[in-house]
Amino acid sequence: MGIQTAFAGQSSPLVDDRSKQGIFRVARRAFVEPSVLEREQREIFEKCWLYLGHESEVAKPGDFLTRSVAGRKIIFTRNKEGKVGAFFNTCPHRGAMVCREKQGAANLFRCFYHSWAFDLDGKLINRPGNECYSEEANANGEHDLVAPRLENYRGLYFINLDRNAPDLPSYLGKTREFIDLVMDQSETGMEVVGGTQEYGFRANWKLLAENSVDGYHGQPTHVTYFDYVMSTNGNIGDNVVKISTPHDLGQGHAVVEYGAPWGRPIAKAVPAWGAKGEAEAESLRAGLEARFGKERAERIAYTNRNMVIFPNFVINDIMAITLRTFEPVGPGQMRVSAWTLAPKGEAPESRQRRLYNFLEFLGPGGFATPDDCEALALCQEGYANMAEAGWNDISKGLNREQPTIEDEVQMRAFWREWSRRIEGERA
Ligand code: FES
Ligand code: FE
Repeated sequence: MGIQTAFAGQSSPLVDDRSKQGIFRVARRAFVEPSVLEREQREIFEKCWLYLGHESEVAKPGDFLTRSVAGRKIIFTRNKEGKVGAFFNTCPHRGAMVCREKQGAANLFRCFYHSWAFDLDGKLINRPGNECYSEEANANGEHDLVAPRLENYRGLYFINLDRNAPDLPSYLGKTREFIDLVMDQSETGMEVVGGTQEYGFRANWKLLAENSVDGYHGQPTHVTYFDYVMSTNGNIGDNVVKISTPHDLGQGHAVVEYGAPWGRPIAKAVPAWGAKGEAEAESLRAGLEARFGKERAERIAYTNRNMVIFPNFVINDIMAITLRTFEPVGPGQMRVSAWTLAPKGEAPESRQRRLYNFLEFLGPGGFATPDDCEALALCQEGYANMAEAGWNDISKGLNREQPTIEDEVQMRAFWREWSRRIEGERA
């Protein structure tokens, strides 16, 4: 590809997809311009299913937590009958945030300002001077909390701000096969362990969508971690599967499946875990085989998967499992929330290995996360030169019949959907 000498005009496409000619580029304007972010808010964040939380985070009746999703303030809760619900965290009276806590357990939500009170289903149940209101004023629930659409798949709850959007299972489409490979890891269900990890950094949110399924950057960016794994384990073990497959799952979703040298608490041991760890992993793998047969058991146990569910939800099932969302707080700034997911009732030693693995690689202070933040912040800084160097190249592997995870199939899947939603269908 020739060197670009000028920044293309406003009317040119942001995604330059000429796959047949081996060209796939994204204009750097897409990462920088406020008008692009405004379109994303309208065409993506207000129309797609967005991850809110896992059922285990509101395990008991009355449990609640508050989150920001696409800039909206949301209460996520479980009512007395055990049903999970979500409400916009704004009072129908004058708009104050009704719930000010991060999380807790409650019988009702009472607004700080004039003391209107709502039950766990969002219904107005009490207010000072109730006799001064006509019944008509709340005839259609106008004085109740407003609820977004809420649906779940295997314990993962999503909201949608678009009343006309297709249902969640249709939206998730082929990602369900890969969600199942994670959720099937326990017969008794999965749980979020240890709360939320929150951090932010100076990069456009789409850079993290790309990075989360980018196999090309693994070795160079995370060389310190790989050196560490090799030196700690002595060797890579004998059950590293020879798979390196990117999947375009449609609708902007993508996943990479691959073998890797690290240990997986379910259920691939490494020499550093010793004989006991090896025996535990083998027993877990045998349990999976009894439930699912050898082939699926080995796929669950030995294969790693990093998946992005369009637009901003990531499940990485690698040396531990992380759930991650990220949302823009400006064109060049994002806020990230991450959780670790684990099988309920996991043996203490396995849980310890999992949490250690999580912190070591995926946690905000691990080997990987700071590396990735640095790489993405460097990209964002580099876009200061976009007037002279205006395009990102995403063409790797376009000429290959069987691409690997080090190609860029998965990022092209994201960008095609992004372009369809932001720029509309093009001939
Ligand atoms: Fe909530 Fe008035 S704003 S009671
Ligand atoms: Fe990385």
